[in-house]
Amino acid sequence: MAMDTVIDMADTFGVGKQVHEQEVTKALSREDDSQTVGAPFVDAPRMVCRDVNVYYGEKQAISNVSLDVAEHEVLAMIGPSGCGKSTFLRCLNRMNDTVDICRVTGEILLDGRNIYDKSVDVVPLRAQVGMVFQKPNPFPKSIFENVAYGPKIHGLTNSRFELQDIVEDSLKKAGLWDEVSDRLDQPGTGLSGGQQQRLCIARAVAVRPEVILMDEPCSALDPIATATVEDLITELREHYTIVIVTHNMQQAARISQRTAYFHLGRLIEVNPTDQVFTNPRHRLTEDYITGRFG
Ligand SMILES: Nc1ncnc2c1ncn2[C@@H]1O[C@H](COP(=O)(O)OP(=O)(O)OP(=O)(O)O)[C@@H](O)[C@H]1O
Ligand SMILES: [Mg+2]
Repeated sequence: MAMDTVIDMADTFGVGKQVHEQEVTKALSREDDSQTVGAPFVDAPRMVCRDVNVYYGEKQAISNVSLDVAEHEVLAMIGPSGCGKSTFLRCLNRMNDTVDICRVTGEILLDGRNIYDKSVDVVPLRAQVGMVFQKPNPFPKSIFENVAYGPKIHGLTNSRFELQDIVEDSLKKAGLWDEVSDRLDQPGTGLSGGQQQRLCIARAVAVRPEVILMDEPCSALDPIATATVEDLITELREHYTIVIVTHNMQQAARISQRTAYFHLGRLIEVNPTDQVFTNPRHRLTEDYITGRFG
């Protein structure tokens, strides 16, 4: 079956809303389902995750996930609502530290260094591994200040001229410069939704990240703004490594090189994106992408 047909079917059926818990739990308890199917490991990874478990209090949200992120790839994470995509994504820059009841075990390395090591300062870590959220969240400041704020607090430069260069360069990389160059002193909150999301991407880019995490960055955007942000993600891959959570399988197919399918806190399958959508190796992945749950 052609990839477009499979994805259209899945989107039509509203995948993720019809999980038959018993069936899935039974499938997950089979011995051969305890290991991730596919290619979780890559040569020369930028990020390495090994045996990652995440708990909210007593409740386990992520179970034994091992996964690498390659340099200059867009890795898409898909799966039903509540399967742990955001939880896992937030482990990659220790955003879960902000949730009191959240506990993370296992190893997550960035360029070989364990980001959970006691010696790691989370402030520079979150610049190195930036994040763009579902809902555009510009600061209540000018467009210029939204982008300049990060470089200032991270001490990237003391020079006003250099700061201007960073702001211009970041807005260009985020594909927003031409639309805002004549009104940098106006509030970021006055931009359209799609422009605000690109402003948030410029803000992440301004602190010279290595990895950018995106949690459903287009879900609050209309189709035209979504297409602009998708094109941008493809361009950003040249400079950065991107991990993106999306519910939109067409989007995963358009922009990612590998796709990871999560289910009930487990990483079921990760493979090249075209393979996941045309020839999934695990029955649960196939059920999800064809909309055949239960
Ligand atoms: N702050 C929290 N406190 C307690 N439980 C949480 C918290 N955040 C998430 N969870 C639980 O962890 C599990 C995974 O949630 P998560 O938000 O990671 O799922 P998701 O795959 O991103 O879902 P969605 O597609 O709806 O965004 C869910 O059972 C959720 O209820
Ligand atoms: Mg989520």
